[in-house]
Amino acid sequence: MRTGTMSVCLSAFVAHVCLLNSAAANELPSDFAVNPTAVNMTVVPKVVVNSGRLEWTPFSRDLTHWPSLSHEDRRSTLKPRKVALSEPLNGDPVRGRALALARDKGYCIVCHELPGEDWPGTVGAMLLNFKKNNYPNELVFQQIFDARAFNPNSVMPPFGTFGILTEQEIRDLVAYVQSLD
Ligand code: HEC
Repeated sequence: MRTGTMSVCLSAFVAHVCLLNSAAANELPSDFAVNPTAVNMTVVPKVVVNSGRLEWTPFSRDLTHWPSLSHEDRRSTLKPRKVALSEPLNGDPVRGRALALARDKGYCIVCHELPGEDWPGTVGAMLLNFKKNNYPNELVFQQIFDARAFNPNSVMPPFGTFGILTEQEIRDLVAYVQSLD
């Protein structure tokens, strides 16, 4: 009898702790630019000229399901994912290039130097003449899908694991970078 009561208490306690943990884990950080009444939850600041004020306006996308850079963000991130690429690649380098430059897609240019573009970022390796590396498609696919498979501390976004790009879009990007000579 006694053991039974104890186990009930214990499981009630454990359940309570679990509930608390999951609430904290799902909570958005207080410094996250969010307004629950805005269409896409996410808001962006706009300077109101000569007023010293910011006006928070709705952003075109809902960014709340992605991890933020806030120190308060306790939400867990998706684990690094290893993927296999089934060949043929069937990627379109022209679409790949467009994705690499699109701000709401790959936006690879923000970190990588790509041919024919001014003002690239320099955080990542230069991708000019990428073809000469002779990397297998599978390796490049994994790098774009989830770079953390090779470097757990990579700053390159896990485009595939986080659902930022589809598998086909990543195939297009692989075809594009592999074509650069
Ligand atoms: C926030 C910066 C950032 C963005 C955005 C980014 N990368 Fe990277 N990328 C890196 C860094 C840093 C490395 C170096 C390896 C590492 O740390 O993962 C890298 C490595 C690579 C490599 C391997 C280069 C080599 O020679 O070994 C490829 C290919 C690559 N990135 C392609 C892309 C593509 C395609 C995109 C856009 C879909 C992209 N990257 C977006 C930062 C970035």
